[in-house]
Amino acid sequence: MNAPKLPPTDLPHLSDPVPPGVTHPKTIKSFVRRAGRTTTGQTKALQDLGPRFILGYQKQVLDFPSTFGREAPTVLEIGFGMGEATAHIAGVLPDTNFLCCEVHEPGVGALLKRIGEQELTNIRILAHDAVEVIDHMLPPGSLDGVHIFFPDPWHKTKHNKRRLVQPVLVAKLAARLKPGGYLHCATDWEPYAQQMLQVLGAEPLLKNTATAPEGWADKPEYRPLTKFEKRGLRLGHGVWDVVFRRV
Ligand SMILES: C[S@@+](CC[C@H](N)C(=O)[O-])C[C@H]1O[C@@H](n2cnc3c(N)ncnc32)[C@H](O)[C@@H]1O
Repeated sequence: MNAPKLPPTDLPHLSDPVPPGVTHPKTIKSFVRRAGRTTTGQTKALQDLGPRFILGYQKQVLDFPSTFGREAPTVLEIGFGMGEATAHIAGVLPDTNFLCCEVHEPGVGALLKRIGEQELTNIRILAHDAVEVIDHMLPPGSLDGVHIFFPDPWHKTKHNKRRLVQPVLVAKLAARLKPGGYLHCATDWEPYAQQMLQVLGAEPLLKNTATAPEGWADKPEYRPLTKFEKRGLRLGHGVWDVVFRRV
């Protein structure tokens, strides 16, 4: 019989209790570090392009003009996965800087590969927990937008506390947006979509851009339909976009 797999010691246990009144305690992460093979192409991209496009995580505020080599509107993306949407959006919005966080190494390699293939210059990557990046590297009123596309849904009720879109994180993001800056979330999991609407709706600094009474936004043009999303739509699954602006 196979021995049961033990969780790595540096990860919090999924069954850790949440202290009362705390929605997103520091010990509960919105991700688990998945095993996954980094392909030869991704490894090469990490070696060749990593030094130019990956920023080191540090507990020091980031200076955007020197990081990107120009003054331009800056959008934060949390959890870009394999970077398909990220690279597309960076290509269609060349005048915007994209600061992109992802903890999954093959995903970082995959986005670097796309950066090389599409000759993109407006992306910088932080291969680190976005929550710590927000806490330590992003000053108030510095962002023009935030993208959170298809965040891990953490379906089971006992895992819901790991969801990224929680009041504490949303308050931090709202504080880092410029007035008029936007927070755009998308998901294919309806209960999470409802949570997004409710949490963003309860944040006093944010206002829904939707005109439809249900509160959902039309999919903004810049967000492409990824392979994963197209498959879901073919299977009859829904997708919900939620776009709020800082007042
Ligand atoms: C379900 S995937 C979606 C990826 C992508 N946005 C897409 O639409 O295909 C969610 C990703 O978020 C990343 N993630 C979750 N929490 C994160 C955090 N706190 N900081 C950085 N990345 C995170 C995970 O590693 C995972 O790759």
